[in-house]
Amino acid sequence: MTSKNSATARAHSNIALAKYWGKADVKLNLPAVPSLSMTLDKFFTETTVSFDSKLKADRLLLNDKPASKPELARASRALDTVRQLTGVELRAQVNSKNNFPTAAGLASSASGFAALVAAGCTASGKSVSATAMSRLARQASASAARSIFGGFVELGEGKPGQATLAAREIAPEEHWDVRLVVAITAEGKKSVGSTEGMERSRKTSPVYEAWIENAPKLFKQVKRGVLERDLHVVGRAMEQSTYAFHACAQSAWPSVRYWNPTTLEVLATVDRLRAKGIGAYATMDAGPHVKVLCEADDAARVRRALRSTDGVLSTLTTRPGPGVRTWGR
Ligand code: DP6
Repeated sequence: MTSKNSATARAHSNIALAKYWGKADVKLNLPAVPSLSMTLDKFFTETTVSFDSKLKADRLLLNDKPASKPELARASRALDTVRQLTGVELRAQVNSKNNFPTAAGLASSASGFAALVAAGCTASGKSVSATAMSRLARQASASAARSIFGGFVELGEGKPGQATLAAREIAPEEHWDVRLVVAITAEGKKSVGSTEGMERSRKTSPVYEAWIENAPKLFKQVKRGVLERDLHVVGRAMEQSTYAFHACAQSAWPSVRYWNPTTLEVLATVDRLRAKGIGAYATMDAGPHVKVLCEADDAARVRRALRSTDGVLSTLTTRPGPGVRTWGR
């Protein structure tokens, strides 16, 4: 193996302020609704891809341990899209590390697939644009399309058959000095992955259509609020987007529930902060943790309140972070 065929990428995770939930095209992995996220400075995945003529199959180490069969198969499929675009035919050794808990609702698939695709494209030696990388990452995991970019990022909804959909940065990380304070409410992985959760919602939830109809309106409000740096506008639409998608998941059969009792305790804390006049707004993804959006000046107070909420294991304050960075070739 020569080091020439090797490259490393660091991609940061992102949290959707306007949520993606549901697919317009399962095969092409096209989201049914537009979403808008903030890339986070503190959470990232670092992945090295080494194409190697001696390998007969792709190999994947996740946080220093051999990946499971399904994890390897999904990574291999993502690498196939890289191989197809760049013309590389070799198999790869992939080493991927998260600096935060994997598959716990902290968007590890977003940073994971963004880093994998970016490292693979760079290792190929071909010049691949950020938009093309975002398109490949989207095929692996739609939220990963957003992690190619920094700051505030939108991903439109896909029309069936539209293979080219990619994310786009709407404002750089310096645009708005907000904080997302994360309250970790459990250890371990989530029970139902987001891909499965949203498919179950699409097939069985009686409120799925209402979610699809309303999500674009909430997305527009979030986008306007971000561009105008209006925390109240973003916060209100973000909370509605969060609660609407969770209502959709919870009303699926079998029900997809991501919250635990501590999630609800934290939500009550956020209500109390707001009652005291502090701009603090909650969002939850496919996991039990709560992320609270607030102004930079209020972050310390919000974090203290979350830390002293019953059941909260730890807290962390994040801010808008950068897009993917690659090196090694
Ligand atoms: C709740 O991007 O993980 O975090 O495309 O099937 O891989 P797949 O789903 P994924 O779903 C993310 C769902 C969410 C909301 C969001 O990030 O927009």
